[in-house]
Amino acid sequence: MAQHHWEHADELTQTARAMVAPGKGILAADESNATATKRLEAVGVESSEESRRQYRQLFFTAPEVENYISGVILYDETIRQADDNGTPFPDLLKERGIVPGIKVDTGAKPLAGSPNEKVTEGLDGLRDRIKAYYDMGARFAKWRAVITIGEGMPTRQCLEANAHALARYAALCQEGGLVPMVEPEVLINGSHDIDTCEAVTEENLQTVFAELHRHNVMLEGTILKTSMVISALDASRRADVQEVADRTVTTLKRVVPPALGGVVFLSGGQGNVEATQHLDAMNKKYKNLVPWRLTFSYARALQGPTLDTWGADQSQVAEAKQEFTHRARLNGLASEGQYSEDQEKAA
Ligand code: 13P
Repeated sequence: MAQHHWEHADELTQTARAMVAPGKGILAADESNATATKRLEAVGVESSEESRRQYRQLFFTAPEVENYISGVILYDETIRQADDNGTPFPDLLKERGIVPGIKVDTGAKPLAGSPNEKVTEGLDGLRDRIKAYYDMGARFAKWRAVITIGEGMPTRQCLEANAHALARYAALCQEGGLVPMVEPEVLINGSHDIDTCEAVTEENLQTVFAELHRHNVMLEGTILKTSMVISALDASRRADVQEVADRTVTTLKRVVPPALGGVVFLSGGQGNVEATQHLDAMNKKYKNLVPWRLTFSYARALQGPTLDTWGADQSQVAEAKQEFTHRARLNGLASEGQYSEDQEKAA
């Protein structure tokens, strides 16, 4: 039986609302040190605590981004870092009206019993870490599960193990005053068609929401971060923008309860422009027909142009920041269904 006595209900609901405020979305800047190193080295920048700080600072100090960015997901190293003036990053974001968030999972590991699949770890000690992050200023937390499509995959074992961990993390977050950003990502890798992605996404989300219910998670204070229903990168036919938008919204309507605080998307290997187009197409057609805000929570599709500019020449700080402001603005427009491709050039 459902037990509705949530201690932080009002705070959680307000935070979730702020995260999906009109015209805004989330910057994911929570790459682990290993992933950040991969991204920086790909553009010829040596990865160190200091270069990662300088890189993240570009985003957090870019002009006018508070108009388009409602929240930022930080990594454990990043939430403890400060800007050149010594202002801690979470304080800097908060001063700009941007909600600081934190990645709290400790990564996807091979799933025993089905070693080609992954289960996300990080529950041990999580209650204490949530308290520490709350005290540092975080108001939401992300946990990413990864679901692989392939021969015989995903298994029910994988879907259930990940959904169970997501529900336990989400309940712990709400107990500690953090909005859970629940991310059960279906990977885009492979050659499967969009029908397969749709079927897997539906089953995955259904499994996750059943488990959230079982664990007394308050949906009004929860954000879903999902992949889109999309053809695999190596599919023989790739569905166009409108089909991705239609299939994604259709699937969400089938399995996502209206009470949910909001839906945000990951970019998951889509191109920068493609990710913006998909979000825009969904909102152009469905913005007033779905009960949740549909917005972005991109890492690669928001950071790409800045990373390229700064990687090519680290003295191009103003230009690199401007690239981010531009991408954030276009995605902010897409979150309202007001983007058009000619705005790409209006930098
Ligand atoms: P991408 O947008 O690069 O997929 O990253 C989003 C994210 O936070 C993945 O966990």
